[in-house]
Amino acid sequence: MTSTPTPTPIPPSTSTQALLSAAGLVKTYGPTRALDGVSLDVRAGEAVAIMGASGSGKTTLLHVLAGILPADQGAVTLQARSGPMRIDGLGERERSRVRREEFGFVFQQGLLIPELTAVENVALPLLLTGHARDAAEAHAAQWLGALGLGGMEQRRIGQLSGGQAQRVAIARAQATGARVLFADEPTGALDSATSADVMTALLDSTLAQGHALVVVTHDPQVAARCGRTIRMRDGRVVPEEAPEVAR
Ligand SMILES: Nc1ncnc2c1ncn2[C@@H]1O[C@H](COP(=O)(O)OP(=O)(O)O)[C@@H](O)[C@H]1O
Ligand SMILES: [Mg+2]
Repeated sequence: MTSTPTPTPIPPSTSTQALLSAAGLVKTYGPTRALDGVSLDVRAGEAVAIMGASGSGKTTLLHVLAGILPADQGAVTLQARSGPMRIDGLGERERSRVRREEFGFVFQQGLLIPELTAVENVALPLLLTGHARDAAEAHAAQWLGALGLGGMEQRRIGQLSGGQAQRVAIARAQATGARVLFADEPTGALDSATSADVMTALLDSTLAQGHALVVVTHDPQVAARCGRTIRMRDGRVVPEEAPEVAR
């Protein structure tokens, strides 16, 4: 059994080496090039927003970066605790271990289990990795408290507001000690004030630990909270500032 990760902040990495690095990613669905040569570095302690029109490849990129989906071409390298590790070359079983141990996920709808309480939802991934129930629930309660949900541990998901439920999803994603958090439209179902609160929770809980956040969003206000925004178009990253070309 592994030790329970704690929410105690660790000093951010001073290394400029990317925590997660993608190079030359290509992913096709029949004639559609969902990813057409995407390269991207995500550093420790950094929040990166991915924007772009519907169908531009944002979700596909997120899924390939996170080892959910294998690319047809290209490399995804994670700076693992043991050193650099190519996750694109791994089999499904190993990739799922990396996802479980290194990554956390927050989706538009939290994908929380309505029959379970807030604390049980957050503790679940810890139980699945072999932690004892008492320790898992104590750790889960700590994360709920850190995200402003103290006193709501025993509520079922239906007894929470949309913003509170999203903070439960963030607590669940953080509880296993994920070093990269992936969020796909995490505020897509929320009003703008709640959206700002959820972004604060996402950013604070990730960056304070020197971890990284990759967030797909349509909302410029969400992107503005991130240190960097990349724009996708037709499966490619749009160059940040195209130099003026004299004609
Ligand atoms: N499982 C799939 N099967 C076929 N086409 C897909 C699949 N997933 C995505 N696509 C296509 O790939 C392109 C990029 O999709 P996606 O990454 O979901 O874009 P976004 O998240 O930016 O809306 C779109 O043209 C979409 O229709
Ligand atoms: Mg999408």
